[in-house]
Amino acid sequence: MSPKRLLPLAVLALAACSKAPESTESPETTSAEASAPAEAGPVPGRDYHSYATETFATTHLVLDLDVDFERRVLEGTATLDIERGGPGDTLVLDTRDLTITGVRAGGESLSDTAFELGEADDILGAPLSITVPEGASRVEVAYRTSPEATGLQWLEPRQTAGKRHPFLFSQAQAIHARSFVPSQDTPAVRFTYTATVRVPPDLLAVMSADNATERSEDGVYEFEMPQSIPSYLLAIAVGDLEFKAMGERTGVYAEAELLDAAAAEFEDTERMLEIAEVDYGPYKWGRYDLLILPPSFPFGGMENPRLSFITPTVIAGDKSLVALIAHELAHSWSGNLVTNATWRDLWINEGFTTYLTNRIMQKVYGDDRYTMEVALGYADLLGELELLETSDEIMALDVRGRDPDESFSNIPYEKGSLFLFEIEKAIGREAFDAFLLDYFQAFEFKSIHTEAALAYFEETLLAQHGDALDADRIREWIYEPGLPEDAPAPTSDAFTGVDSARADWLAGSLAADAIDTADWTFHQWKHFLDGMPEALTGEQLTELDTAFGLTETQNNEIAFSWLMIAVRNNYEAAEPRLEAFLTSIGRNKFLLPLYRALVANDKQAEAQRIFEAAKPGYHPLTVKRNGAVVYGEDA
Ligand code: BES
Ligand code: ZN
Repeated sequence: MSPKRLLPLAVLALAACSKAPESTESPETTSAEASAPAEAGPVPGRDYHSYATETFATTHLVLDLDVDFERRVLEGTATLDIERGGPGDTLVLDTRDLTITGVRAGGESLSDTAFELGEADDILGAPLSITVPEGASRVEVAYRTSPEATGLQWLEPRQTAGKRHPFLFSQAQAIHARSFVPSQDTPAVRFTYTATVRVPPDLLAVMSADNATERSEDGVYEFEMPQSIPSYLLAIAVGDLEFKAMGERTGVYAEAELLDAAAAEFEDTERMLEIAEVDYGPYKWGRYDLLILPPSFPFGGMENPRLSFITPTVIAGDKSLVALIAHELAHSWSGNLVTNATWRDLWINEGFTTYLTNRIMQKVYGDDRYTMEVALGYADLLGELELLETSDEIMALDVRGRDPDESFSNIPYEKGSLFLFEIEKAIGREAFDAFLLDYFQAFEFKSIHTEAALAYFEETLLAQHGDALDADRIREWIYEPGLPEDAPAPTSDAFTGVDSARADWLAGSLAADAIDTADWTFHQWKHFLDGMPEALTGEQLTELDTAFGLTETQNNEIAFSWLMIAVRNNYEAAEPRLEAFLTSIGRNKFLLPLYRALVANDKQAEAQRIFEAAKPGYHPLTVKRNGAVVYGEDA
């Protein structure tokens, strides 16, 4: 039985930004809840994805965990320092598939206390209700994870580069921290943490905290994260890892086989960091390192503080895909410093980060690359708008009753970024940069919801630039589907020649091998392929492939674009590569569209066959989402 929610978590989100200017608090927040009619929209700041209540807030976490590769479990204790935030004596934690073996509470000393694990909900997991004795400030939960924990992937040695040791990594965002740490798993609550982690002696453990650069003799690692973070930024990885410095504050952790290639590919990270600091304020997290994961990692990157988790599929050899690093680094401001209070507010994390990414890329790699990357992002947005339900085109997405993994789209990223791009154009870059600097300072180490951000925009941007900005239009960007009329439509001159070459080739007036591609960058190739019409003939596909060796490309983004074309047009020569791609990479950005295209092109049986073959190597999230696609349960 799930415990009755005492008060909406909105209160927590507001408490969390109590140091921000007073008027950023949304006036509707508390009154809307009380008087809301049945059909009312989501309550600003209320986290519909956590059982946490305002009675207590976690301020610090101490983890003590054994990493057992044999049983595929983490086992130990999570001890939470709690602070009272409202009446009552029950602390409710989020859990998913955890076995709870005991709970103690107290202050200096702890003693057993009553607890109840409620019924599990498919999306939310099970609430763990703990009776907190009068005056207690600390609660210790003894637990172990399930081998099927949704936030962990346990890899066999053969799934690693070295093939000799197993590997473990976590992915907590959005609501998977609860599958490996019983916690108030809501981005509205922030806490510091320390951890003691015991692993097999030949492996290195790292976390979103301060990290050792060398193996310990006894397999015991101690961690400290002195800055407060939301639960979705808890992260751990264990493997046969080595460290290589890239700069004073930046370095890379990877298996030995990938270490030098990764350090070379990402050697500009230190410069990115320095550049970001100039515009957005000091970097608050100490070091910024990268962890290169095995290819089954379901995302491109994850901004775990101090240690971004990165897919190896972006090591292209020519730095063409390093915007991913700029993106995860940018989250050190937009996301990790100023955090979305709920998953409805994801655009506050991802929209600002996508905008900042472009700005960092421009400073490091110049205007041409900047313009192309902005234009490619816009093309992605247009593509996404064609596919989505209208209601999902809204930046402040109504995620009530939905699995955040399944409502994930490009909207918070590219629409969010385009919105900020429009403001920049309207008030000028200098003024907008000044705004960003103030914004990151005003809300640092806070979690804010859409209405708090909007109120801040109104107080600052609109108050100072009322001639150039319009409050209704800003609301339209945030609350309406699609794009406002005359929204910016970024293009790049570098694509003009590519467009005419493609058009001439399609018209039959220019042979593929006569196109002058000698100076094309990755971005131009991507634009060339993504701009192809849906239907191409077998001869056309063969001609392109023969001229450019597309099936054999080593750039995974190009491979993806080409394989999409190949699947849509049943290009058989690419089938072995498609199968190799789908079985060796776990990045959902690639897998979902490819599996969907297979199903849409009468290749469902083939999709199922490949999926089943690849499944043992996939991350739990990859299995769930792509399984739904190939077995026809995809919405
Ligand atoms: N924080 C996200 C990944 C994420 C978002 C995980 C929502 C779970 C829920 C990360 O910063 C990200 O955006 N990654 C992108 C990078 C790309 C936009 C450069 C990815 O993985 O593709
Ligand atoms: Zn991101």
